[in-house]
Amino acid sequence: MLRNYKPLCEAIEKYRNNNVYPFHTPGHKGGRGADKTLLTLMGEKALASDVSLMSELDDIHNPKGCLQEAQNLAAQLYGADVTFFAPNGTTGAIHAMLLGTLAPGDKVLVPRNAHSSVIGGLILGGLRPVYVVPEYSLELSLSLQVKVSAIAEAFAIHEDISAVLVTSPNYYGMTADLPAIAKIAHEHNALLLVDEAHGAHLGFSQKLPASALQCGADAVAQSTHKLLGALTQSSMLHIKGERLVREQVAAAMSLVTTTSPNYLLLASLDCARSQMATEGKLLVEHAIKAANKLRIALAKIPQLKVVDNRIIGQGGVAGLDSTKVMVNVRELGVTGVYVGDELRQSGIAVELVDRDNILFLLTYADDNQEIDEIIGKIVLLFMTLVASQKKVIAQTNYNLPLPRQVLLPRVAFYAAKKECLFKEAMGEICAESISFYPPGIPIIVPGEELTEEIIMYCQELKAAGIPVSGPKDSDLESIQVVKK
Ligand SMILES: Cc1ncc(COP(=O)(O)O)c(C=O)c1O
Repeated sequence: MLRNYKPLCEAIEKYRNNNVYPFHTPGHKGGRGADKTLLTLMGEKALASDVSLMSELDDIHNPKGCLQEAQNLAAQLYGADVTFFAPNGTTGAIHAMLLGTLAPGDKVLVPRNAHSSVIGGLILGGLRPVYVVPEYSLELSLSLQVKVSAIAEAFAIHEDISAVLVTSPNYYGMTADLPAIAKIAHEHNALLLVDEAHGAHLGFSQKLPASALQCGADAVAQSTHKLLGALTQSSMLHIKGERLVREQVAAAMSLVTTTSPNYLLLASLDCARSQMATEGKLLVEHAIKAANKLRIALAKIPQLKVVDNRIIGQGGVAGLDSTKVMVNVRELGVTGVYVGDELRQSGIAVELVDRDNILFLLTYADDNQEIDEIIGKIVLLFMTLVASQKKVIAQTNYNLPLPRQVLLPRVAFYAAKKECLFKEAMGEICAESISFYPPGIPIIVPGEELTEEIIMYCQELKAAGIPVSGPKDSDLESIQVVKK
């Protein structure tokens, strides 16, 4: 009964059905004044449901009613002590996770495959990052996962680390050995914080890796919108156990959350939770089935390297979310970017491309009538590329050494800056982050030294057509550096 119950959605519907005349925000007044295009885009009902902060709709900053009930139901589903809805995405949840569990100056261990939102959290919190480099597969030109031994070694050098922030699964669905990392962290009185942006569906099937909370994490940020049915931007932050102070996390969450949350986003979290509570196991089976169809079809093409369970046990990888289908296309003699463009021209858009790889993200929604035809189209395109017999391109080594950290990210962020030509920036201290998106993993963050290798590497990625994200000059002709 409670599984089906959607307290937040019911409250919104009730308010809408009461036909109250709104002398309050939003200014479009339930759609009455909405621009025609907006009305067409969203529909009357959605605009009428774009409600505001009425008492019966609860208050995200001090929830006691329908929102609290909805969050409690989510906590129950995920096995958390407390769940916060995060209408600023996992970016906001990660910021709150860091701000609510650590104090300025605290050391946090961060495997360097972290998303740019983690770097944002380090800047906001004035934290001291200790980076470790995840393992790298030269064969796939991919960063894999962080090894438990790397975590242990970092603790041996820095006994005062207060938290470890692991990205698991990574963008490609590979999980780290979280139970072992949790054990080490907890033995050192440190917290295990997990960026599980790509894992809101984990733990619902034995065929998928366990969720971070099941593995002993203290706090977990999840993009419910990425792999489940919530609207884009809608995420959750879960916390568990007594190692952190709940009130402090709640205060941090409040700090990074708008005072005007969009109730459609919050309602979509309520719906996604209910969907998973009622039929989560089945939905995940659908996702696995659809992804396996694609994986099996692509694995028949010998020139493609399709990541599968054989990756488990290599390079820190403890498990693989099989709903992510990662394909290395190097032997076709074309780049992942090229394949992505070709697919787009045939009406198929993928989640991620880089020089050598292309990532298909599948969810329960892909187990549909179209999927066989779509897979057929994808296979045909790959077969055409095989037939064109292009020369195999050289392997790309994306495994950069860690840049030297000269200043803390926050200090560099607030330092006096000057602009210089990117190609001449060797030896300068970077004042911006540079990522290529997706996956949005920073190559350099504020406070680190620009080396010739980094500059050449970024120029190579740019030349391969991968969009840069982070710097003010998105063409990466110039870069902001710290004035010496
Ligand atoms: C690993 C990882 N963490 C965090 C985020 C941020 O999530 P959101 O887009 O929900 O803010 C992303 C987004 O792509 C991500 O890939």
